[in-house]
Amino acid sequence: MKGYPIGIAEPRCQQCHHILEVELDLSDLQEHSPDLFLQRKETSIWRWREFFPIEKDGAIVTLGEGGTPLLPAGRLGQGVGGADLYLKNDTLLPTGSLKDRSNSVGISRALEEGQKVVAVASTGNAAASVAAYAARAGLQSVVFVPEVTAPEKVAQAASYGARIVRVQADYDETARFYGQALKRFGWYNCLSSNPFRNEGKKSYAYEIWADLGGRVPDWVIHPTAGGTGPAACWKGFNELYRLGWIERLPRIVVAQAAACAPIAVAFEAGWDAIRPVESGQTIAESIRVGRPSTVAWRALRAVRDSGGTAVALSEAEIESSQDLVASEAGIFAEPAGAISVGAAIRMAQEGIIQRDHLVVAVITGHGLKQPRANLPLPAAIPRELAALEQFLIRADR
Ligand SMILES: Cc1ncc(COP(=O)(O)O)c(C=O)c1O
Repeated sequence: MKGYPIGIAEPRCQQCHHILEVELDLSDLQEHSPDLFLQRKETSIWRWREFFPIEKDGAIVTLGEGGTPLLPAGRLGQGVGGADLYLKNDTLLPTGSLKDRSNSVGISRALEEGQKVVAVASTGNAAASVAAYAARAGLQSVVFVPEVTAPEKVAQAASYGARIVRVQADYDETARFYGQALKRFGWYNCLSSNPFRNEGKKSYAYEIWADLGGRVPDWVIHPTAGGTGPAACWKGFNELYRLGWIERLPRIVVAQAAACAPIAVAFEAGWDAIRPVESGQTIAESIRVGRPSTVAWRALRAVRDSGGTAVALSEAEIESSQDLVASEAGIFAEPAGAISVGAAIRMAQEGIIQRDHLVVAVITGHGLKQPRANLPLPAAIPRELAALEQFLIRADR
């Protein structure tokens, strides 16, 4: 593949038009043992600073993202064929979703380039995240969201001071419109068509590896929309492999909602490219992307090259994953954020995940960002013990 200079204005391959990828020369790191990183006190993604394409320390925009807990799933592992299941709890990132890993790097790059206005089109989480990092960096932000986006996410972005553009369209059409606006106004792009921001999610690989004490999981499962997560995680593990710090690679799993699963469909069909799909209705609204960018092709390649798989989950499976992650593991995730656990359960049922496997399911978005509208609340009771007793008896029935 042809090389391009790092600051190229339109970061796409001139032949195939795919989004370019940043390639860092990591050969200097070969002289070091991994202890160089493992002994650092820094807990954010910037513990792995040398792996990110930011030249000046002074440009780094951070809210302490990264270093999220990798929790043994306990009882939940029983539902996954008794496998050794871990949950990577990214609900605890500064704005409550995985997007902070990307935007810390992406907005740092914006600052390094001297940009003034940063923008994104989003199903909600990236909007909040871009707005937060822009606020931190003292930049203006403009975020485009479909009008159906959860009001909690829109309010979050607005609180950080973003200019909110709500569009009368679904995400795919909103993103297309955003592309036109970007050309017209020349804002700094924080979508996955910006190769710099995509580097941030490589931090999954480094953190998982460090937290497992140098072990490599058999499976890493990602809730997936545009595919940056699985593609970047695979890239990060490959960097560790090339440095000789790990001896094998994990298998990468893409988890999507069956109602909108372009990567899973392409995987099943054996296609080399992703074909757009009609976005059906799903409660996993954050990952409702039927027409992903060409980064999705990298995710498909990561799945194939790693010997992984792609799982498309029904609405019932998504709802039950969210419930299980909360009630069995104590993590309140939005529906899209917990879908990785549903994929693990399905894979165990199909005998793909086995008892002796080490599995990491990434939990990518906080439950408070998309509270369930239909969750019935119990009626309020008077402050009387008799009423409480009655209430508890009724609840026990
Ligand atoms: C909660 C959540 N999980 C997962 C994703 C998927 O991200 P990607 O496939 O672009 O890495 C998103 C994207 O919006 C999200 O909001």
